Amino acid sequence: MSENALEPNHMNEWKLSDETRFETKLVSETDEAGFAAAARALAEGEVVGMPTETVYGLGCDARNPEAVARVYEAKGRPSDNPLIVHVASKETIPQLVSDITPVARVLIDAFMPGPITVIMKKSSVIPDCVSAGLDTVGIRFPIHPVAQALIARSGVPVAAPSANLSGSPSPTKSEHVMKDMNGRIPYVVEGGECQVGLESTVVDATGNWPQILRPGAVTMEQMEAALAAAGMTKPETVVALESKPEEAPRAPGMKYRHYAPSCEVHILGTGDFTNYEEYYKEAVERELIDEKTPVGLFVSESIAAEIRVLFEDRLDKILFYTYGETADVEAASHHLFDGLRLLDEQGAQVIFAPAFPKEGLGVAYMNRLEKAAAENVKKKEPAKESRRVLFVCSGNTCRSPLAEAIMKSLWRDSAPHHMLGRPDVEAELAVSSAGVATSDGRFYTRYSEEIAEYEYNVDISKERSTQLTEALLAEQDLVVCVTDDHSHYLRSQYPEYTKRVFSFEELLEEFHIEGIDGHIADPYGREYEVYQKTASQIDRVLRAVFPEILKKWEMT
Ligand code: TXA
Ligand code: MG
Repeated sequence: MSENALEPNHMNEWKLSDETRFETKLVSETDEAGFAAAARALAEGEVVGMPTETVYGLGCDARNPEAVARVYEAKGRPSDNPLIVHVASKETIPQLVSDITPVARVLIDAFMPGPITVIMKKSSVIPDCVSAGLDTVGIRFPIHPVAQALIARSGVPVAAPSANLSGSPSPTKSEHVMKDMNGRIPYVVEGGECQVGLESTVVDATGNWPQILRPGAVTMEQMEAALAAAGMTKPETVVALESKPEEAPRAPGMKYRHYAPSCEVHILGTGDFTNYEEYYKEAVERELIDEKTPVGLFVSESIAAEIRVLFEDRLDKILFYTYGETADVEAASHHLFDGLRLLDEQGAQVIFAPAFPKEGLGVAYMNRLEKAAAENVKKKEPAKESRRVLFVCSGNTCRSPLAEAIMKSLWRDSAPHHMLGRPDVEAELAVSSAGVATSDGRFYTRYSEEIAEYEYNVDISKERSTQLTEALLAEQDLVVCVTDDHSHYLRSQYPEYTKRVFSFEELLEEFHIEGIDGHIADPYGREYEVYQKTASQIDRVLRAVFPEILKKWEMT
């Protein structure tokens, strides 16, 4: 994987499920029937968008591995990142964990319900897919009344990551969730704007003193005060965490791209607010000169007012998102993700946001903002994600080279492509072909080459036939055989790759496309017109399945 690739290719297994397409309904707690249906869906293994006081979550039954798999699928994130388990009462906690340390006990008593996630040793109720192989689980008891009502009503412990697509800022309004998850989940429950606006404090409480893995609204000072009030003092040696599986870093989520809009984000100032007007003014001036506009400002009301006066004649090049008073860290935190999303959506080429002192809630605010800004480096070189398609026939001289050429032309003619919901991630497709009964290095038939060149403007004349091997098969995301005989043969020879092998006919069936003939006869040894007919048949099939394949791979 290249540095820029955002995450492993979790869609490697070509598995199509129509159940994953929904008409997403936004329901509120006052809509008795809708709310009950959302709670029921949650209990029955579906994924539901849930408000909390920090950010919206994508909830599912934490005990149900299939439901958990749906969460990862909806989010578009690999499954090596543990999920937090949400409860609606403290009484539920003991069945989910195997040990509540004295530190954990104090944190639960002092801060739950509230914006904190306490990591404890897990019980056997929590499947491995929730803990991503760790022997611990993060427990969170949100204070948001709608979250509590939904969890209680569903009757299940609710595993939930933030409800954004992997890579975009966490959602703090139901409309953010609707935007990211539309069609991917059946329900989003309305809960208004999230009060805190930043994700919970994640704290490891398996040792003899809390260790913050992700800063949030509950601060280290507050935790130490609560521990002190309970008569506990910081031990001489803070016991480190127990050893964890090697591949699983302690807060695995931190290694993924988070919180970042697709444009560059820059932090202004150092946390003392004395010169902030000046900083904003300079930044805007610079970007206007560089023509990196519109410039997005995440800014206080008062500074925005000054900037509006100063740049009166160029206001069409400046986008404002105001969060409140200049030094109000609660307001800035509450609005940060909404601000980043909105400015990004409005087309900002660059966003400026103020630094806050790294104390109290400022630690969490700066943690998220610095992560967003750290993405700038990657943005300079566009990230890429790629998929591979292989066409297979017998000799790899007639039909599969034609299919290869046609697929390449379809891709080229509909370019540029990017990953769905991640306009900054370029999508790549590698198309090749091979034969099950050929020897390496034979020429493609001349007619296939000519049709590829004259009708599709694709040069395959330098390519030679390739013998299909298991290694080649293993690299592919999708293998399309020209006939059912070929696909049956491949599946029987290489059962491991069954899910990615299709014939033309099977592919049409998979996508419920009717009225197109997927049987492609071998034109070998026949005249040019027969090859042309073969090409137009392949063309018809590929044109029909192409958009579906892109959809499946989340490419647009
Ligand atoms: O405020 C929040 O915490 C939101 C709302 C929906 O509750 N949830 C949230 O979940 O932010 P998520 O999945 O986006 O982030 C959870 C973070 C990840 O960085 C994950 O790696 C870490 O918590 N985490 C979860 N369980 C863990 C565990 N057992 N050990 C270490 N880190 C864990
Ligand atoms: Mg998240």
